[in-house]
Amino acid sequence: MPFPQDFLDELTARNDIVDVVSSYVQLRRKGANLFGLCPFHSEHTPSFSVSPDKQIYYCFGCKKGGGTINFIMEAEHLSFPDAIHFLAKRAGMEVPEETGDRDARQRRARLLDLNRDAARFYYQLLQQPEGRAVQDYLNRRQIRKATAVNFGMGASLDEWDVLMSAMTKKGYTKSELLDAGLVVQKKKGGLYDKFRNRLMLPVIDTRGDVVAFGSRALDQSEPKYMNSPETPVYSKRRVLYGLNLAKKSKRPNIILCEGNLDIVTLHQAGFDNAVASMGTALTQEQLRLLSRFTKELILCYDNDNAGKVATERALQLLNGSEFSVKVLQLPQRKTEDGKLVKQDPDDFIKNHGPGAFESLLGGSENGVEFRMAQVAGKYGLESDEARVAYSREVSALLATLPGAVEREIYAARAADLARISKDALMLEVERCRKQQTNRESRAELRRSLNPTAQSQPQERSLHYENVRSALAEEGLIRLMLLDDTLFPKEPPLALEDFSSPLLGKVFFLLWQARAEGRPVSLPPLAGELSPEEMSHITSFCQRLESASSGGQALADYIGVIKSEVRKRSASGLDPLLAAIEKHKDKKGEKQNV
Ligand code: UTP
Ligand code: MN
Repeated sequence: MPFPQDFLDELTARNDIVDVVSSYVQLRRKGANLFGLCPFHSEHTPSFSVSPDKQIYYCFGCKKGGGTINFIMEAEHLSFPDAIHFLAKRAGMEVPEETGDRDARQRRARLLDLNRDAARFYYQLLQQPEGRAVQDYLNRRQIRKATAVNFGMGASLDEWDVLMSAMTKKGYTKSELLDAGLVVQKKKGGLYDKFRNRLMLPVIDTRGDVVAFGSRALDQSEPKYMNSPETPVYSKRRVLYGLNLAKKSKRPNIILCEGNLDIVTLHQAGFDNAVASMGTALTQEQLRLLSRFTKELILCYDNDNAGKVATERALQLLNGSEFSVKVLQLPQRKTEDGKLVKQDPDDFIKNHGPGAFESLLGGSENGVEFRMAQVAGKYGLESDEARVAYSREVSALLATLPGAVEREIYAARAADLARISKDALMLEVERCRKQQTNRESRAELRRSLNPTAQSQPQERSLHYENVRSALAEEGLIRLMLLDDTLFPKEPPLALEDFSSPLLGKVFFLLWQARAEGRPVSLPPLAGELSPEEMSHITSFCQRLESASSGGQALADYIGVIKSEVRKRSASGLDPLLAAIEKHKDKKGEKQNV
């Protein structure tokens, strides 16, 4: 817990949610709550609500919710600590020295120093005669000196412990070197340098800290690329190679590629807005990071099967996001004997020059065009059967587009390709749309007829194991927020009694606040819960609970939870006991309390 709890309490008290939200959304009072147009998704009728009593917001449309801190994280695209600083500034408060984790912070700072010193060490080696092999490699790949310097490239030597001894001389311990992933332990316990005889590519985050290293072998030896492991300062899900440079680009968008050296070549050719996910699938965390710098992405993955799969996955992740997305497809290259081979951005620039890349960039397709081309590629379009199959599949694809104009335009194009009339294709698109809406409304109907499914959290990973117990657990949390004086002095339940670990955790966080005489409310819990968890908690806390019959409700909720606990433990023990419990249960809750 990096910030003291009483500081968070004061911070949320001094940043009233209605004031904060009002600088983003025009709110109107309706009953106890205020309503406005949701700032997180586009809508025409207000489904975004703010509760001044509970100091929470919740959108019934996109199902996002939380307290003031969550709101600022979402609206300003800030991390939790950055949102804290934002709100502290707004309220004119001083952020206290982050206690508790001071040790961890110091350890992180040490690792960052170590990484920086290691990067300097590799960099210097590259300038010296020992770095010859890597210099030769850079020449072979046509990487210029200025480019290498810009990326802070370096050389690791074909030896076992030069880095380790240089860094221990500087005062770093072996365990720090291990933590940073710069050395590896032998089975017998000895240590040696992880990176040897490689081109070193420091991975630098947007603050300018060296958080990790990528590296490439100088010949065919395996592995071709070797990267730092996850460390206290490096999570590969949260970093993009080259973003430290791309964030300063004057170009309006960011180009996403797969490989580190693709980025190097692109920057060298004037495309200083390129970044790489270093061979892994694009993540939500990386998108959040990118959204601070641009709202326009260009996917430029390799033109092979793996690259197409990566593109499709990225498009799915980006579907419905705030980004506009284009796909730049590199053509395959014909070899002298007529074979088609894949080109990555690095190959393409070398074969065809920056001008050719610039024109591809201008003509890059949007996500729909990319997907249509994929479907066309699948069927060939020679035979009548192929044209029918293509028309079917492409209609299903077009039916998912929300805009009527978009559907028209792309349908015309697809009809041309399939050599059928646009009207015929549009008919098929509309048929698919009806089918899809029917399917959705049937699913909606099923959900509304099945209260169990309806009570499940929106977020899959939060799925309730035991809905009956979980609904009572939700009720307890609602009561706690409504009036904590309803509760006895000692907790009425143990943490293990909660069927949902999340609900148990929230309940006891609130309980702890009460025990310490702090305000019992949700907003200060922002640091303990993920945004998805917070959204879910606010979703059921919006619901009304009557204070007047609170005592009875409390007894009922506890009764239900306890009876579910008995059922669980009985079924684990003895089938006969379980049957008895089940029978008791049928006879009614009240006797079970
Ligand atoms: P590629 O194999 O497509 O390499 O990997 P590349 O970028 O074209 O490399 P060159 O041109 O041969 O030097 C794409 C990216 O996947 C990651 C690296 O980040 C690489 O840049 N990768 C690849 C690994 O992490 N490990 C590997 O063994 C291979
Ligand atoms: Mn390559």
